[in-house]
Amino acid sequence: MAGTNPYIEKTEYELPQQNYNLIFQPMNKKVEILAEKITTENDGLPGSILNIALAAGIDLDHSCGGVCACSTCHIIVREGLGSCNEANDDEEDMLDLAPGLEPQSRLACQCVPNGSQSIIVEIPEWNRNLVSEDH
Ligand code: FES
Repeated sequence: MAGTNPYIEKTEYELPQQNYNLIFQPMNKKVEILAEKITTENDGLPGSILNIALAAGIDLDHSCGGVCACSTCHIIVREGLGSCNEANDDEEDMLDLAPGLEPQSRLACQCVPNGSQSIIVEIPEWNRNLVSEDH
């Protein structure tokens, strides 16, 4: 079940109203997100990239349980960032601690696409050893 962090500002996000595709790189795993099946069962905000990764069997590191209190879920949104919610100040502060920060970096647990674009997400190299897929 997704947790919340009472010490951070509430994050504004919009759940998708339409189905869309998300590709995880470098494993090139494509996931179709069905708007009517957004779940809160995994860690991270409902509809977040962390939530989607975990549901797809990608064990993306998320030490704090998806509540914006670490930076281990750092990902880079290579395409479709414009359809994601804006990072708030708490997320920006955590991202500042992440190695390999890029302009398109986000915390996967806080980044929620609205479904208006396809998304390509890169899992940073330093985090890849931790990622395993179950097929
Ligand atoms: S899992 Fe800790 S900030 Fe995303």
